[in-house]
Amino acid sequence: MNLDFEPERFRRLLSQASEQVLSLYASLPRRRVTHASSPRAVAEPFAGSLPETGMEPETVLRDFIPAIFEHSTLNISPRFFAYIMSGGSQVGILADLLCAGLNVNSAKWHLASAAAEVERTTVRWLGEFIGYRSGAGGALVSGGSEANLYCLRVARDVQAPGVREHGLAGGRALTLYASTETHSCVTKSVEMLGLGSKHLRRVPVGADFRVDVARLEQEVRRDVEAGLTPFCIIGNAGTVNSGAVDDLVALADVAERHGLWFHVDGAYGAAAARVDGARELFRGLERADSVALDPHKWMQVPFEAGCALVRDWDSLRHAFTYSAAYLRARSDNEERWDWMGHTFQLSRAFRALKVWMQLQVYGSRKLQAVIADNLQLMRQLGDEVDAARDFERLAPVTLSILCFRYVPATGRTWDEASLDRLNARLLEECERRGQFFITGTSLGGRTVLRACLVNHRTTQAETRGLLAHLRALGEELVASWERVA
Ligand SMILES: Cc1ncc(COP(=O)(O)O)c(C=O)c1O
Repeated sequence: MNLDFEPERFRRLLSQASEQVLSLYASLPRRRVTHASSPRAVAEPFAGSLPETGMEPETVLRDFIPAIFEHSTLNISPRFFAYIMSGGSQVGILADLLCAGLNVNSAKWHLASAAAEVERTTVRWLGEFIGYRSGAGGALVSGGSEANLYCLRVARDVQAPGVREHGLAGGRALTLYASTETHSCVTKSVEMLGLGSKHLRRVPVGADFRVDVARLEQEVRRDVEAGLTPFCIIGNAGTVNSGAVDDLVALADVAERHGLWFHVDGAYGAAAARVDGARELFRGLERADSVALDPHKWMQVPFEAGCALVRDWDSLRHAFTYSAAYLRARSDNEERWDWMGHTFQLSRAFRALKVWMQLQVYGSRKLQAVIADNLQLMRQLGDEVDAARDFERLAPVTLSILCFRYVPATGRTWDEASLDRLNARLLEECERRGQFFITGTSLGGRTVLRACLVNHRTTQAETRGLLAHLRALGEELVASWERVA
């Protein structure tokens, strides 16, 4: 039974969906960033039972899509400063439509030969975009978490031959080293690889939130003496909390001295590695054996698009090539490149199209200019916080994350616990009002307002607006506290 619509009707449906996207973008300036509905109101339109006979697509578009738009937090908005989420791009919207239209499986060359070549080129371009070593291998994956998992899988297999076949049981524990600021997906990856999270050594950071390299090397030595097998050092190129970039040169040196794999989590920051005003921070990145990169963050590609880069193709192939009679993989055939031999999935979306189109249309210069712009805006905002009497900066603005807190200029002294409570309330109130959205974190035990900018639509109007908004909310909260007190 053919499910296709008549061509004219399909054209009208495409146009109805396009109009909905267009009006979403046209209404961005008026829209709240977060929504104000209760969980029950969000759930209500979707609570129906399994449709047996279905519904007209025009009705689904008309009756459900507005509710989905209405009840979504708009990271596409220029007033979104939460987590590390980009605004996506209109080129990405086109690419996703085309990709769904073609619906190829990019796992095998003979199923998607153009897609295979587009992805190979995309991996090469991404390596160049961040100044990584030439000849690197890589694969597009769902995001930074998966990219880290892939890289650590390759690291484990290269550094501990035999583990693939025999597992870890009975052998010496494999240990890895990363700062306490390292993203939780590294712990998840370590657990998924069967390495055991207690073998991930969490090394303290200094006041600048960069890993203490001397301490890290001490831990490596101690583990060797204890009969364990250190195998990997993980450097951060842009931590999720504050954007700190570890001393990658020093970490590469330690890795070299001890014969360890050097992995860099650049999911957030690596995209800035060749941007003026930031490139110095990333010296040493080119020495990494693997890098996790996230085009769906600072490169403005819509979700999902991550990239695992490794020093050579063979290491990736070694981890992922399996033979099965019916598959006849040719992952090392230069002319007929089978992606299934480089990745976990056997059914793979053509996600390279949106990354490739992004680079093809905007070019590296424009995308790097977006990053440079974001860096400058957030450094300026950091200066404004420094100059203000009622805000306090709590970490250096290394990249585009500003960690700060509201400290009322009321004359009375605020103890740490009250400031924590006040700033936590400020975050809740900001999310509830929905004009701007920022999230918080904790640094040195203190509750922190954390504003992160990886969005090409944001200008100084919004960064200034954010500070003014937080100040107004802070004053309101303090006034109501004082009334109660
Ligand atoms: C440093 C770092 N690594 C890894 C990740 C995980 O990436 P993703 O959310 O794309 O899985 C993030 C996400 O913010 C991150 O900031």
